[in-house]
Amino acid sequence: MQAPTTTMTDGRDLPLIGLGTYPMDDAEAAEAVRCALDIGYRLVDTAASYGNEAGVGQGIAMSDVPRDEVVVTTKLRGEHQGYEATLRAFGESRQRLGVEYVDLYLIHWPLPRLDLYVDSWKAMIKLRDDGLVNSLGVSNFMPEQITRLVDETGVGPVVNQIELHPHFVQEDMRAFDAEHGIVTEGWQPLARKTDLLSQPEITEIAERHSVTPGQVVLRWHVQSGVVPIPKSGNPQRQRENLDVFGFVLSEAEMARVADRAQVRGGGEPDTHEEF
Ligand SMILES: NC(=O)c1ccc[n+]([C@@H]2O[C@H](COP(=O)([O-])OP(=O)(O)OC[C@H]3O[C@@H](n4cnc5c(N)ncnc54)[C@H](OP(=O)(O)O)[C@@H]3O)[C@@H](O)[C@H]2O)c1
Repeated sequence: MQAPTTTMTDGRDLPLIGLGTYPMDDAEAAEAVRCALDIGYRLVDTAASYGNEAGVGQGIAMSDVPRDEVVVTTKLRGEHQGYEATLRAFGESRQRLGVEYVDLYLIHWPLPRLDLYVDSWKAMIKLRDDGLVNSLGVSNFMPEQITRLVDETGVGPVVNQIELHPHFVQEDMRAFDAEHGIVTEGWQPLARKTDLLSQPEITEIAERHSVTPGQVVLRWHVQSGVVPIPKSGNPQRQRENLDVFGFVLSEAEMARVADRAQVRGGGEPDTHEEF
């Protein structure tokens, strides 16, 4: 079982579902990643700030899946923004992961107060030009910040990973990303801090399709053109979360899934201080 892929503007393929790994520790991440890859996942999401890059790397090494079939994503943490600091931090991430190259490297948060994300981006372009990173992306970026990256470097991100779930559908940001050929990845896709999965609208649709509430929500992401990265350390739920390509939600069901109060659950991109 594998997710289909989409082709990013840099010509690389990205699976339509990935595995999140926050807040796993190294041991949990190693086992979860090994298991997920053997089930069929080919996209894995970690970050320097999760403290589990070594575990993620061990999981990749332990699985039977060849390294070049896995899209390994990691992220630059706030305290390492800036040109030289980004180069150093990337080297440390690469070492912890135990990989020759990283497939997708993201700036974790823009931290506009520091005003270093353009310098960080320039370092990331060098890493790509040096063959150490395949694809460059951002996370939690707003339109004006992406526009600035393009204006000042001529290079735009191929991915923007943002908070996205039926309680926070981010229509404007998704439209901006789509207009600029940027793939939107959705973090916290199952809205883990809410009771979304037990809401009657979701459970009714799940019963109708003989699937689980989690599958309904992940199918909603895929049909919305979003790449979700659900976290699970449980093999059964990992399998379930990848198995959403055998049914289709009607237009009315799509609308019903997202017909709820819109509330951001995590940090505000313009002010969130992630170090
Ligand atoms: N870029 C950013 O700023 C940012 C911020 C937050 C997160 N992320 C990334 O996004 C990933 C996903 O977000 P998240 O982990 O916060 O939330 P999430 O994926 O929405 O939810 C994960 C939670 O749901 C449970 N779960 C998983 N599949 C399920 C299913 N089918 N049915 C019921 N429960 C299920 C998991 O428990 P079990 O493990 O027990 O299955 C876990 O407690 C993170 O792991 C991380 O990689 C990025």
